[in-house]
Amino acid sequence: MTQTVSAPRPIEWIGGTDGFLRLIDQTQLPTELVYLDCRTVEQVWEAIKMLRVRGAPAIGVSAAYGVIVGLQSATSNLDAFSKRLAEVTGYLAESRPTAVNLFWALDRMKRVAEGLSGTPGERLERLLTEAKEIEREDREMCAAIGRHGAALLQSGMGVLTHCNAGGLATAGDGTALAVFFSAAADGKSLHVYADETRPLLQGARLTAWELMQRGVDVTLICDNMAGWVMKEGRIQAVVVGADRIASNGDAANKIGTYSVAQLAKAHGIPFYVAAPSSTFDLTLETGAGIPIEQRKSDEITHGFGRQTAPTGVQVYNPAFDVTPADLIAGIITERGVISPVTRENVVRMVEV
Ligand code: MRU
Repeated sequence: MTQTVSAPRPIEWIGGTDGFLRLIDQTQLPTELVYLDCRTVEQVWEAIKMLRVRGAPAIGVSAAYGVIVGLQSATSNLDAFSKRLAEVTGYLAESRPTAVNLFWALDRMKRVAEGLSGTPGERLERLLTEAKEIEREDREMCAAIGRHGAALLQSGMGVLTHCNAGGLATAGDGTALAVFFSAAADGKSLHVYADETRPLLQGARLTAWELMQRGVDVTLICDNMAGWVMKEGRIQAVVVGADRIASNGDAANKIGTYSVAQLAKAHGIPFYVAAPSSTFDLTLETGAGIPIEQRKSDEITHGFGRQTAPTGVQVYNPAFDVTPADLIAGIITERGVISPVTRENVVRMVEV
């Protein structure tokens, strides 16, 4: 039976223009629910870099609030304010490279700032309103993605997801997980299989936790079990999130997603990507242009504090991969489902 329990808010602005950003420190989940109060832009940068807040939309929303935190010390005059805005947005843009929502949110804050008049204090007030608007829109986009995606699923299906594209990764109910929550709210019973998601275990630590909190039936599997679980007939659809989608529909998501898409194709299972319009990068022709974040080797050799590989071993640790559009049955956006995934259909749906 599905419970209607709402998860704790992963991102929250506390107070007025002199306030701060409160985040759930996701590195502590699932064993501890710890909040982190970010009062400096350096703390916001570190929280994004270290995946205390993670998931493409959540990174964008946090960065928008990070701009406010960074500007609080620069309200004495307009020159200082403008200089600091450029510094802070440039600095936050260096935190992680792949999720385009980060750059989308920072560009939006800069664009709004450019059109402002009045004192620095008044401008800061307006920028805080914009950051809250980005958060509110993200929540609405999640709900709409959930509704559009739920229509693709039938009761009794087994569905597979990879990484965490849930409420923790957004300001709302998530993207891929919003589809499951929405289907459950429609009375459909699904069984979700969550890939563990090596090396940082977002599937085990975050997706399994979130689904259990919300009373959705979930089974955790190791990444290397996905093919066999499909072969056994347990999976009827795959739904994952995305960090950046090129104009032809190629979609970057957590490393391992490409393998899942290939496995889904081999087993004749539809593979869906769920993402808001803020995750599309129409400046890129194909996924070949998406920058892939490379992370430190100790995430693989010393995961969660224990050495599991020989000292000095060579390590390759790309954090994302790109699934080509032709493996994607549909991209579920807040405006509807893009299917078939062609450049024409992507541009038509996303361009306003
Ligand atoms: O490295 P992460 O944990 O930030 O990677 C997150 C993902 O790959 C998610 O699937 C993606 O950002 C979509 S979140 C709605």
